[in-house]
Amino acid sequence: MEVYLDNSATTKPYEEAVNVMCEVMSSNYANPSSLHRMGKFAEDSLNKSRETLAKSIGCSPNEFYFTSGGTESNNLAIIGYAMANKREGNRIITQPTEHAAVLEPFKYLESQGFEVCYVPVDSFGFPNINALKDLINDKTILLSFMYVNNENGAIFPIEEIASLKRGKASLHVDAVQGYGKLSINVKKQNIDMLSLSSHKIHGPNGIGGLYVKNNLKINPIVYGGSQEKSLRSGTENIASASSFAKAAEIKISNLEEDAKKMESLKQHLKEKLCCGIENVIINSPENSVCSILNVSFPGVKSEVLLHVLESKGIYVSTGSACNSKKKKYSYVLKEMNLKDNIIDSAVRFSFSSFNTIEEIDYTAEVLIKEIPLLRKIMK
Ligand SMILES: Cc1ncc(COP(=O)(O)O)c(C=O)c1O
Repeated sequence: MEVYLDNSATTKPYEEAVNVMCEVMSSNYANPSSLHRMGKFAEDSLNKSRETLAKSIGCSPNEFYFTSGGTESNNLAIIGYAMANKREGNRIITQPTEHAAVLEPFKYLESQGFEVCYVPVDSFGFPNINALKDLINDKTILLSFMYVNNENGAIFPIEEIASLKRGKASLHVDAVQGYGKLSINVKKQNIDMLSLSSHKIHGPNGIGGLYVKNNLKINPIVYGGSQEKSLRSGTENIASASSFAKAAEIKISNLEEDAKKMESLKQHLKEKLCCGIENVIINSPENSVCSILNVSFPGVKSEVLLHVLESKGIYVSTGSACNSKKKKYSYVLKEMNLKDNIIDSAVRFSFSSFNTIEEIDYTAEVLIKEIPLLRKIMK
């Protein structure tokens, strides 16, 4: 049996999204900037995709920009906004369990003279709201907080954070892991910029989106032919945009049903592991997203476990995919102040609506058999 439980890294594309990609690539390949009929046809298709995606997060199509993915959206929002507004103040605030695609732009801005503040987090990675309140002053121009943590699934109190904005401060939300699992309405949630990625919702890799509230000042970080209202130059990726929009259409119309299914798979795995194995630590909080369950099996190195599971056809992660090749431990779990033996043995199971209860039963069965054996060997 093959069990893909690494959906927070990348999801399997919907068949419909693959079909749209092929159709558009073969029949609608013109450059949307071209003045002829074929160019107009491509431009219409891009705008239709933009409308679908904008609607999915409650913004207007002219507030939605295509990018190459979550990483670029975060860079554009953070660097582009900070650079455009530096005269208004130089304090920018985030927290230490953000994805590298947020932390690295913050580091860059620090090197450019911005005052970067990190809000302390608790043992599940939730930011301390009182500390955040104290950090916001009249020099603060930007708050950047994720909607859902990619390693333990913690759902951040975005509305509460938004309610703390004052003066010139704007809120950017990295919603890469929350989109398609939790409903999003940027207007109701008082969000100023929001990053999305297609490959986490069964769309293609290499395309994403950024919502930027109308009239917000933001500079480009890529210069060229002035596409995307000069905010993101480069010939538009019509096929991927259409495929992303198709995936969003399917995902959003099934959001509640899919979330319910994923939540039941997650709870089922959690119960089986907690009942069937001694000393299992759940690193995901109660208030975590339906798609992520982070678990530690003290005494078993997570990297070894990952390969044992792989040999049985089960695919998981030891942390965020973007980090797992670089760092030995998860900085996210480290920031949560977890003990080393819990960090070293942490595994992330991440679900999609394609997973089945039989797959979860099989995964639990393998773990219940293998964990005691691995603990003996590693003693
Ligand atoms: C929270 C979060 N932000 C940003 C990204 C980067 O998105 P992309 O892979 O589309 O660049 C990821 C990817 O794992 C993520 O989990």
